[in-house]
Amino acid sequence: MDNFVYYAPTKFVFGRYTERRAGELAREFGGTRALVVFGGGSAVRSGAVGRTVRSLHAAGLDTFNFEGITPNPTDDKVREGIDIVRRNNIDIIVAVGGGSVIDTAKAIALGVPYDGDFWDFYCGKLVPEHALPVGVVLTIPAAGSEGSGNSVITRMPDYGETDKEGNPVGPVKLSLRTESVLRPKFSIMNPEFTMTLPAWQTACGIVDMMAHIFERYFSNTPDCEVTDRVAEGLLKAIITEGRRVMDSPDDYQARANIMWAATLAHNGLCGTGRREDWSSHFIEHEISAVYPEVAHGAGLAAVVPAWMEYVAEKNPGKVAQFARRVMDVPVHEQDADDDELSLLDAGIRVHRTLSTGEIAAEGIRRLREFYRSLGMPSDFAGMGIASPDVTSLVEALHLHKGQSIGNYVELTSRDTKKIYNKLL
Ligand code: NZQ
Ligand code: ZN
Repeated sequence: MDNFVYYAPTKFVFGRYTERRAGELAREFGGTRALVVFGGGSAVRSGAVGRTVRSLHAAGLDTFNFEGITPNPTDDKVREGIDIVRRNNIDIIVAVGGGSVIDTAKAIALGVPYDGDFWDFYCGKLVPEHALPVGVVLTIPAAGSEGSGNSVITRMPDYGETDKEGNPVGPVKLSLRTESVLRPKFSIMNPEFTMTLPAWQTACGIVDMMAHIFERYFSNTPDCEVTDRVAEGLLKAIITEGRRVMDSPDDYQARANIMWAATLAHNGLCGTGRREDWSSHFIEHEISAVYPEVAHGAGLAAVVPAWMEYVAEKNPGKVAQFARRVMDVPVHEQDADDDELSLLDAGIRVHRTLSTGEIAAEGIRRLREFYRSLGMPSDFAGMGIASPDVTSLVEALHLHKGQSIGNYVELTSRDTKKIYNKLL
């Protein structure tokens, strides 16, 4: 296990009616004038925005609404938000929504006290040190932004913008990671607000939270048994509660469990003591940057098993551990059911121990099956992308993320092209 600092200072307030505490919490963190950020209307229809604003008013805060944040949010809304905050002397940002709304709120909070362009932090020119306080009322368990120090924004190119070689510049989706500056001061989590989610969005969230654990779990750092077991326990619980929530969307307890799982998956706990590998997210972010109609979780449903399959050829150990401990793949062939052997050289049942590669492959097959049962895509066509430009995706990926990515297995453009090609 490596040395680590784990600092996750968000105050989580979980359960029914907790949005009634928004005002009191905003006050606790110094707010007097709040920018209330939300998306395309779901949080208005569910009453989440109205109830939050009422609570803020009851606590004596002035509020300013800022709506229309789209999924896979873009830099233009961040700039617009920064301008509103500055003109109105706003001192706290309250995000009512999911990852896209929260990430925009964080970017605004970061941009306001800085004289230059907020994008300087995202492209790595500057390390963030100050931000306005951000509070959250969460409506979708998925991105985990309610407990993370991250914010993901897509910068759209200016009209006619070209690079040094004169080539047109495309959209750039970058994740900014901070240890604590961008962690929300408080996150209100009322599972009832998630009951209006369409099945598709619920499923996308389940895939995303699992990916946040995978990106930390698939690591070569040895002796992380405690962190491994936390991650494996969470993954197992997400699979069980995920099935339950898809079958019974109005089940409060299932919604509550899934909501808390999404937060724990991404607030850093599952990465403690080890090196992480965010390759699947990097590979997916290029897809949803160029094709913003692709939900992040849906993109991951296709990318993650393809990535796992590719790296398992070179480094199957941890994939096999995941297969055994999370997907319950048996180690001995004689312990497997007939239908569990579909990918193995079944036929004649012999008494033998399965190889690490076979166990890994069976684990990936079961994961794909789980995603399929959620209605998630497994390729570009399933994502609605008829003719994907793999060459451009690979070029953009390595331009934005470096010549090689990852460390569980280091991937160059030769490798990532093969992974994208698996989705054709
Ligand atoms: O815009 P509205 O009308 O609110 O609809 C939203 C949106 O269309 C809808 N929705 C949210 N809550 C709902 C609801 N519909 C009905 N009932 C509710 N209760 O869901 C749609 C998706 O919302 P979005 O915020 O985009 O979803 P998510 O939370 O999955 O966020 C995705 C974004 O977060 C980034 C992703 O890349 C993507 O841009 N990520 C952020 C991370 C972070 N900050 O730590 C980490 C993640 O890996 C991820 O990259
Ligand atoms: Zn994610």
